[in-house]
Amino acid sequence: MDYLILVNKKNPIPKNFCPDLVISDNGKMLEKSTSESFLCMKSAALCNGLKIKLLSGYRSPEYQENLIKNGIIGRISMGMTKEEAEIDTYKNIAPPYCSEHNTGLALDIVTEEDDDVYDEFDKTMEFRWLKENAQRYGFILRYPQNSIEITGYIYEPWHFRYVGKDLARAIEGSDKTLEEYLTYCE
Ligand code: DAL
Ligand code: ZN
Repeated sequence: MDYLILVNKKNPIPKNFCPDLVISDNGKMLEKSTSESFLCMKSAALCNGLKIKLLSGYRSPEYQENLIKNGIIGRISMGMTKEEAEIDTYKNIAPPYCSEHNTGLALDIVTEEDDDVYDEFDKTMEFRWLKENAQRYGFILRYPQNSIEITGYIYEPWHFRYVGKDLARAIEGSDKTLEEYLTYCE
């Protein structure tokens, strides 16, 4: 498994991509090493009195396609034009084969009592702890603030990506997005 794989709108995964998945926290699936690291991180957070939960892990490309369709329909029903709805949806949700969730290496993390992702997650103690510690377990915050021009997505304080411990430390230390880090290392 290439833990440094770049997946974005310009870099889809191959159609035959087949991650080694296991059932992880909250009944969600993750790639095997990603799951092991997440469960270690969850235990460490708990030792600090913080309860985190995996809200979304692996998603099939078909599921991803439905997220896009429902995202557009939902936005139109809230008053956006079709064009506005499509533009806004694609800033928030990746097309099928272009989502890191299709690899099993991406995690949407929330607090134990949350049932959805939300912008203010970054005000929680759980987020502050993750921001400080996630790299020690091999995770990077994948869509930081003010990076939409580079990553293609709005700020997602809940979306973490497994890259392995050494690389996570190097990337967080560089203060770069994964796109910038990979270009910088070419
Ligand atoms: N929300 C992220 C970009 C995804 O759908 O993969
Ligand atoms: Zn996500």
